Amino acid sequence: MSSPISFQAIRIFEEDGKFEQRIVARSTEDLPEGEVLIQVHYSSLNYKDALSASGNRGVTRNYPHTPGVDASGIVAASTDPDFKAGDSVIVTSYDLGMNTDGGFGEYIRVPAAWVLPLPEGLTMQEAMIYGTAGFTAAQSFWELKVAGCKPENGPVLVTGAAGGVGSIAVRLLLNGGYEVAAVSGHDNGKALLKEFGVQQILDREEAVDSGNRPLLKPQWNGVIDNVGGLPLSTALKTTQPGGVITTCGNVAGAELSTTVFPFILRGLRLIGIDSQNCPYALRKQLWQHLATDWKLPKLKVGLKEVSMEGMLNEIEPILRSEVKGRIVLRHKVAED
Ligand SMILES: NC(=O)c1ccc[n+]([C@@H]2O[C@H](COP(=O)([O-])OP(=O)(O)OC[C@H]3O[C@@H](n4cnc5c(N)ncnc54)[C@H](OP(=O)(O)O)[C@@H]3O)[C@@H](O)[C@H]2O)c1
Repeated sequence: MSSPISFQAIRIFEEDGKFEQRIVARSTEDLPEGEVLIQVHYSSLNYKDALSASGNRGVTRNYPHTPGVDASGIVAASTDPDFKAGDSVIVTSYDLGMNTDGGFGEYIRVPAAWVLPLPEGLTMQEAMIYGTAGFTAAQSFWELKVAGCKPENGPVLVTGAAGGVGSIAVRLLLNGGYEVAAVSGHDNGKALLKEFGVQQILDREEAVDSGNRPLLKPQWNGVIDNVGGLPLSTALKTTQPGGVITTCGNVAGAELSTTVFPFILRGLRLIGIDSQNCPYALRKQLWQHLATDWKLPKLKVGLKEVSMEGMLNEIEPILRSEVKGRIVLRHKVAED
């Protein structure tokens, strides 16, 4: 395809059952097969990247491995007619960074079916401020809107609101004219949410109910849940009749305890979000929204940009839920 290129990558090694993160030299010859070779300018940190970087076999089966479920960059070579050298592109999710070497390396090689042209209106850096977290927020927001959740019908609850997905979901909702009630368990998370203009901020404890009553006072017009577990069970008890709830994460627990009553007495709809397998056409449409009518005015609020060395220091904190807002990895080649 092209002569080999040397590059740097964050690589996770398994040694004696322990996982070590190191920056190492690699060659494009080491990358998996695929039609499109991309020089990565930016990547970003998602919760899933930290799981991959710390040896979670549910995310990454084999090591050594390069995480990074997100990448924006320039096509270096392509055997697919839809892409040519010099094109600005983005790749998010599919298998990138999971079992396919990801955006924490300066080059990736992927199937053309995973590659999207960078939408006009977004820089490569802005695309990674959104990243998979922002895309998942956009998919959740889109599902609420399609299901008929309207701003005039009351507040929308967002759980895990100061995290990657939550912080973008909050801003998409505010930008769309919705009143937002946001849950955060940290002072710096709450400060960030105030900066975004959130009207109501709840402590984690205020958003959970461990009682046996199947339904509680209805409060929410809709819910974007990013944490699962008890907060999601509680949201099902406290959403208004006809309301819609999306759910995408499990940081508060993978189990869901509920009854049929929210569904048969209040007509609630619970919608699962799987951004990894979002169909290409919808993916393209949602990125188009993120670049135009949904584009966040102050996208860089809450942004921390890091080098590869800096990224190594962020992996543990995101696993401890200490990261608020978005962390973007800027590779050396990036100019914008
Ligand atoms: N389904 C999909 O397509 C998809 C895509 C992307 C992400 N996800 C999942 O979505 C979840 C959120 O991802 P993310 O990237 O936004 O992660 P993140 O940046 O770590 O944010 C998660 C937030 O959840 C809150 N939280 C953590 N532990 C909690 C607990 N025990 N109870 C209640 N709240 C808790 C924290 O906020 P406070 O400390 O401020 O409360 C944290 O900031 C993860 O489970 C991730 O795997 C799924």
